[in-house]
Amino acid sequence: MENLPLGLTYDDVLLRPGKSLESRSLADTSTTLPYPNKVGYITLKVPILSANMADITEQGMAAAMYNAGGLGIIHRFCRIDHALAMWLICKQTYTPVFMSIGVNDKERITLLADTGCKAFCIDVANGYSDAVARTIEYLRTTIPGVVVMAGNVATREGALFLMSAGADIIKAGIGPGSCCTTRLVTGCGMPQLSAIAECAEVAHYLIADGGIRGSGDIVKALTMGADAVMIGKLLAGTPEAPGKPIYNTLTASSSKIYSGSASKKQQDKCDMNGKNRTTEGVTAQVQCAESTIKVVTDLLKGIRSGMSYVGAQNLAELRMASFIRVTQSGYTEGLPHALLNNTM
Ligand code: IMP
Repeated sequence: MENLPLGLTYDDVLLRPGKSLESRSLADTSTTLPYPNKVGYITLKVPILSANMADITEQGMAAAMYNAGGLGIIHRFCRIDHALAMWLICKQTYTPVFMSIGVNDKERITLLADTGCKAFCIDVANGYSDAVARTIEYLRTTIPGVVVMAGNVATREGALFLMSAGADIIKAGIGPGSCCTTRLVTGCGMPQLSAIAECAEVAHYLIADGGIRGSGDIVKALTMGADAVMIGKLLAGTPEAPGKPIYNTLTASSSKIYSGSASKKQQDKCDMNGKNRTTEGVTAQVQCAESTIKVVTDLLKGIRSGMSYVGAQNLAELRMASFIRVTQSGYTEGLPHALLNNTM
């Protein structure tokens, strides 16, 4: 037992402060991902993608994310004609997106590809699978110039497997998501920072997916080697996320509901896997947020500030920053003390 490897996540580490930038505005947060346009890549001013969940990214969120400097990944938990309609709207308004697909999803792939879609995200709970490799191969052989994002994996071997199968971008994260119960139900998973570290060793392009609670987590994910992060919960309360706000007269505030892709609610809606399915997600409620642009801009300010603390002018320099592990008391020390005394 003493030789068991240690898995770390965001709260287990901090970045060692370095010599500050002269100004936070000098921090360039832009990132580049492969994309099927004329130049073969897309540069995003903000290294944030919206999650391909039914309650997070449809065409409205995709447009808002692109306007905010990030990118939307459209979900697959809908009928094929709905996915096609979303893709066509994005195409007509020139909003770059990736369209999500599952394995055994040839009809969806064909319909999207026939109308010019070349950016796909293969999205399954455990992407380290032959079925995903076959889907990557199918995309590669049937769609010239296709760009494939594939996941999710959480280990070096999983990432290498997908890279060897032909994936361009790896999505990492098994179990860190805010509405995920995979670790509780299956006993499997990997603390997210360790997952990023392992996958970054082999992936050319890496998305850290799930578990982001604020800009500090994003700075840590980018430092560990992610090219961008994917977020769900932090965007779930925005007007651009699908779904209507619920007004609570007692608190005079509005909230929105969002469901895990493997939650009972989502599975019932999609009738996924019949009796053999396991439910590995929950439905949660979040306060309404003003707008996607506000959420993203606030996160961006924090990322810039983090880069300034370690003296990094861009993401390549950020990766040279060093981590220190923190104890539980070190972590607690960093929380607002009023919060600890329960007086906030
Ligand atoms: P969040 O930003 O912490 O809300 O995490 C969003 C991520 O959680 C998504 O991009 C998915 O990778 C993951 N996720 C979404 N739904 C589920 C689920 O039902 N079970 C497990 N993971 C999920």
